[in-house]
Amino acid sequence: MTMWIARTKAELQTRLDTASRPVILVPTMGALHPGHSALINLARHHAGPDGTVLVSIFVNPIQFDKSADLDNYPRTEDADFEICQSHDADGIFLPEPSEMYFNDRSTTVSENLLSRLLCGAARTGHFDGVCTVVLKLFHLTRCDAAVFGEKDFQQLAIIQRMVRDLDLPVRIIPHPTVREPDGLAMSSRNRRLSSEQRADAPRILQALLAAAEKTSPPDILTSAREMIEASPLTKIDYLSLVDAETLQTTQHLSRPSILAAAVFYGDVRLIDHVRIAALS
Ligand code: PAF
Repeated sequence: MTMWIARTKAELQTRLDTASRPVILVPTMGALHPGHSALINLARHHAGPDGTVLVSIFVNPIQFDKSADLDNYPRTEDADFEICQSHDADGIFLPEPSEMYFNDRSTTVSENLLSRLLCGAARTGHFDGVCTVVLKLFHLTRCDAAVFGEKDFQQLAIIQRMVRDLDLPVRIIPHPTVREPDGLAMSSRNRRLSSEQRADAPRILQALLAAAEKTSPPDILTSAREMIEASPLTKIDYLSLVDAETLQTTQHLSRPSILAAAVFYGDVRLIDHVRIAALS
């Protein structure tokens, strides 16, 4: 079947009036890569052959704290369409910012606990922007379920919290982090790395995995920091060992934890994490 593209909310509603259920949404900001392809495949798996897989492509201005990041965000519309088509998406929702936001909009969705930690600590308003657009997309697409990558585990946790707290009738389907053959987590940002930075970047995962073998939080953090900082190309934004559920910094390993890092290569900020099982 030919994939449809809706650029306005009205076009989307017309398409959805005849769409078969379940509708599974894959929210993206475009610049699609094989990580997104895996999300679309998982959406198809959950939709079944007759359900509807809908990909939204919207570079959401209100989740960027720096206008340069918004301006530099890659836009690859034609390649994105091909990826969606070749992975059997039924439709794409591709609105302009003016279609999504009124100039005088004054309503924002805020999650006020998990959003303040990790990536949220230095990026004021980022997760408010994410929650606001995701809630709008859930309403507009009337989706039954939505697929999110685990690479952005904090985003995933915040969206799950929003769904729980606001009783949203949307099932959240996580997809494990998709990696390049050398272990680097796939991200639209990877294409902005120089060849030297790209060659070095797998050290982030290597450092996290090696550190996860240690048995005390201080050793875990020291080990990961030393290995990441052994490269002159890196600058650590944060390196944290947190409780896997609350995302609060943890000093012991009696519960499942996450070792998470955000690392700058020049002005490209990469994130990754590994899970650490509770010590018995
Ligand atoms: O993860 C992303 O690409 C974005 O944060 C999302 C969920 C599409 C909201 O803009």
